Amino acid sequence: MSITTLGQFIIEKQQDFPFAKGELSRLLRDIGIAAKIISREVNKAGLTQILGEYGSVNVQGEDVKKLDIIGNETFIWALEKGGEVCIMASEENDDVIHLNGEYSKKGKYVVCIDPLDGSSNIDVNVSIGTIFSVYRRISEPGTDADVNDVLQAGNKLVAAGYVVYGTSTMLVYSTGKGVNGFTLDPSIGEFCLSHPDIKTPEDGKVYSINEGNAGEFPQGITEYLKWVKESDKATSRPYSARYIGSMVADFHRNLLKGGVFIYPPTAKAPNGKLRLMFECIPMSFLAEQAGGLSNTGSQRVLDVEPTEIHQRVPVVMGSKNMVEKVLEYMK
Ligand code: AHG
Ligand code: MN
Ligand code: MN
Repeated sequence: MSITTLGQFIIEKQQDFPFAKGELSRLLRDIGIAAKIISREVNKAGLTQILGEYGSVNVQGEDVKKLDIIGNETFIWALEKGGEVCIMASEENDDVIHLNGEYSKKGKYVVCIDPLDGSSNIDVNVSIGTIFSVYRRISEPGTDADVNDVLQAGNKLVAAGYVVYGTSTMLVYSTGKGVNGFTLDPSIGEFCLSHPDIKTPEDGKVYSINEGNAGEFPQGITEYLKWVKESDKATSRPYSARYIGSMVADFHRNLLKGGVFIYPPTAKAPNGKLRLMFECIPMSFLAEQAGGLSNTGSQRVLDVEPTEIHQRVPVVMGSKNMVEKVLEYMK
């Protein structure tokens, strides 16, 4: 048989890190387990009345859907049980989450999650996702971890990835040695390697931005958007607009096909909408690992020093040449 499961792949790759003791491998396995459970819940959402608003408002001031809560609890459960993680931060929680598993205090790792990305698409059966990132803790294992263990720049990442719940469920991740994608085979309940060593095209003809906000964009973006609509065979223009409203799904399409994803500053949201720790850092890491770029407009996203777990930053990410073009306009 020629399939490679996620579990087999993680163990094989452990050899890339000669001093690895298997802790990160176990952590990645736990993330895979959480992903399968969330995938099951997402798939039956329409059947079991878990669609819809949960009735509460999250820390970002947005309505929380039940699946956000399920995703959050599932991740916390899996990582607490696994014991490799001492502290977490989630888009759904105001503060950091101290894990209380038997071994958590000794855990060497820190995890940030957006348990359910694209929640406005849940009710309408459109692709959604989960985003995760992994750091090594700064504090001594065995002591109490705190928010400083979480507030690390993206250039310190150990691993990051996402799960996209689409026509099939896929898990895409990187430990800093390229990007690999796995498709969930529901018949055996395993993620199987389907997209080894993903390289994103250097060029593309898709731009993804919420153009409904056009009246609020900085001038550079407005001019770029004029440029993408001009006809020019040599540069494949006009480009195509594609915007799902689930960052994970928009990113995934652009990663495979080429494209640029932009969430610029707007008059209403001067730092854009997307969260540095939960969305921008992990996706930027994957973009770069696949040969693409990611920038805030003034600096590499992975070099932003976070000061607050729910901090937002503008982002331009995707195919190398396309990002560079946007940055030229933003100058
Ligand atoms: P979340 O569902 O985790 O709150 O994230 C939604 C994000 C992101 O997935 C998407 O790209 C963006 O919000 C869409 O925002 P706009 O509706 O402002 O375009
Ligand atoms: Mn999100
Ligand atoms: Mn979310």
